[in-house]
Amino acid sequence: DWTMAAYRDEQIAKIREQVGSAKVVCGLSGGVDSSVAAVLIHEAIGDQLTCVFVDTGLLRKDEAKQVTELFREHYNIPLVHVDASKEFLGELAGISDPETKRKTIGRVFIEIFDREAAKIEGAEFLAQGTLYPDVIESVSASGGPSAVIKSHHNVGGLPDFMKLKLVEPLRELFKDEVRALGRELGLTDAFVGRHPFPGPGLAIRIPGEITPEAVATLQDADAIYLEEIRKAGLYDDIWQAFAVLLPVKTVGVMGDARTYEKVLALRAVTSTDGMTADFYQFPWDILAKTATRIINEVRGVNRVVYDVTSKPPGTIEWE
Ligand code: XMP
Repeated sequence: DWTMAAYRDEQIAKIREQVGSAKVVCGLSGGVDSSVAAVLIHEAIGDQLTCVFVDTGLLRKDEAKQVTELFREHYNIPLVHVDASKEFLGELAGISDPETKRKTIGRVFIEIFDREAAKIEGAEFLAQGTLYPDVIESVSASGGPSAVIKSHHNVGGLPDFMKLKLVEPLRELFKDEVRALGRELGLTDAFVGRHPFPGPGLAIRIPGEITPEAVATLQDADAIYLEEIRKAGLYDDIWQAFAVLLPVKTVGVMGDARTYEKVLALRAVTSTDGMTADFYQFPWDILAKTATRIINEVRGVNRVVYDVTSKPPGTIEWE
């Protein structure tokens, strides 16, 4: 892509000029945006970059492993992998309110990240994969309390005690442009084409209290859903597809026994930037097959429903 090749070169020059010979720390979330930012910055300044991947334990199934392998083995980018799942789950125990969840995750994330970043000697810059829509949403959110819909913990989240200057090479880009840039940098279609994933992760897909069991159940169900979508060749038609584990139990029947287990909601939407979205009109057979597999293969779920709410009035995530 001609435009993206030019954009890449322009940004590489800009990063070199901004950073000089200083060291840069990049917060890697596991998602497409921070990964593309990291690869771009690595191309600009090589080993002056260290990535810190704070693993919240709230990612999709196997995703932490995929990301660390990609960075360490494929790109050879220095990466600190912090397995902080116990710390996050501990801090989240007993919390049900969506905004309190987000704030808790944001706070713990910053504490851990700060602790790790402090170990990187001579770091002067912090790199983030902030996109244009994130910039807009946080600007409008600062317009007053009523404008705050959801606090995005990954925007403008620099604590005072971290005296790092920001490097944000994706600030002017929309999601589709970030994907094009990622391809330009040699990331595979499968990697850059991955659906967006929120910073607070599966915590905001488990309404009510978060337990390790609920996270594991949701990871398994979500993986089956995405596998069926991929098998049907629909993955790229969808902006985001995910499961939500509800804190509601309903009665079912399995063999000749009564069951009393949780409800799982499936969500899929189309969108161009996440600001508005339409619910995805699945062929029924795909939903039916997914539901059957989840109920048969995932313990603790006996009913699956599909969310037919667009944005607005719904948001994409449930919390
Ligand atoms: P909503 O639910 O507000 O989501 O319609 C719009 C898009 O943003 C993602 N999202 C987040 N991303 N941190 C993020 O990095 C967050 O706190 C957050 N909340 C929502 C959501 O997945 C969708 O793509």
